[in-house]
Amino acid sequence: MLAIELCGIKLRNPTMLASGIMGTTAASLVRIARAGAGAVVTKSTGLVPREGHRNPTVVEIEQGLLNAIGLANPGVAEFVQELRGVSGTGVPVVASVYGLSIEEYAKAARFVTKAGVAAIELNLSCPNVEKAGAIFGADEELAFQVVHLVRRATSLPVFAKLTANAGDVVAIAKACEDAGADAITAINTLKAMAIDIRARTPLLGNRVGGLSGQCIKPIAVRCVYEIAREVSVPVIGCGGITTGRDAVEFLLAGARAVQIGTAVLTRGVSVFRKVSLEIKEYLEEMGYGSVDEIVGLAQRC
Ligand SMILES: Cc1cc2nc3c(=O)[nH]c(=O)nc-3n(C[C@H](O)[C@H](O)[C@H](O)COP(=O)(O)O)c2cc1C
Repeated sequence: MLAIELCGIKLRNPTMLASGIMGTTAASLVRIARAGAGAVVTKSTGLVPREGHRNPTVVEIEQGLLNAIGLANPGVAEFVQELRGVSGTGVPVVASVYGLSIEEYAKAARFVTKAGVAAIELNLSCPNVEKAGAIFGADEELAFQVVHLVRRATSLPVFAKLTANAGDVVAIAKACEDAGADAITAINTLKAMAIDIRARTPLLGNRVGGLSGQCIKPIAVRCVYEIAREVSVPVIGCGGITTGRDAVEFLLAGARAVQIGTAVLTRGVSVFRKVSLEIKEYLEEMGYGSVDEIVGLAQRC
């Protein structure tokens, strides 16, 4: 009842671990797979190791989190060694990559392709690193070029992960589809800031960061709804999903699968099993036999 197919990849349920949350080591990816996720996405890695931003890098705010990790990662060459330890769970692994240039995305994609992952997610949307991520996802032409080059560098399914910070996220999604993306992931965190009124300074070491969690859900649902209307490739919903009810909202908006990030930190790793169970309960209660039957139903109105 919960099984889905995403770009030819079989998932036992539509929940996926979102990039950047417990996705840096093989042990934590295996833990999430065993906890019931339908697929796991790794932390974004790039060609060159990065230390990331100075502390504090994560702060809790009402109904969400602000983070400016700064894409801290050991570099893709080292990370693919780590990925070898994830085999054997039966749960598809999606490698997330970013680049500081179009060519770097393609080179990183070539590395992870050799690591035996099921798909590649392009982080075109990190809001807290200048020259990486969001700069490529905010411009139709750049997004097209990144996806186009990566498409030629790998035979794996390519997911383009977008940001709602882009002026017209639907136009960017269409550019990615035209360039050969097999799916669109929407959305990454939203650029945001919080200030400590006693210290009279920004709370994050990097001053600005990415907002995630329940507070961004309505924006994410809107993006999924609008993108799914205009593209024919699958859309993967992400942003504030905490319960099965949230996941169902994204599926009805047109998502074929959902990614969970912040709620792993607030609800624990059991969130994947809980959300799956809650989706199943909804399907049974409403008389549906599969997840596919409800994808995009809200598009009719
Ligand atoms: C601490 C943290 C680190 C993140 N790192 C990445 C990353 O490396 N690559 C990426 O594409 N998204 C990253 N994200 C964004 C999430 O994958 C997700 O798109 C976003 O948090 C919205 O989903 P959520 O509300 O379920 O957390 C990160 C989010 C958080 C909270």
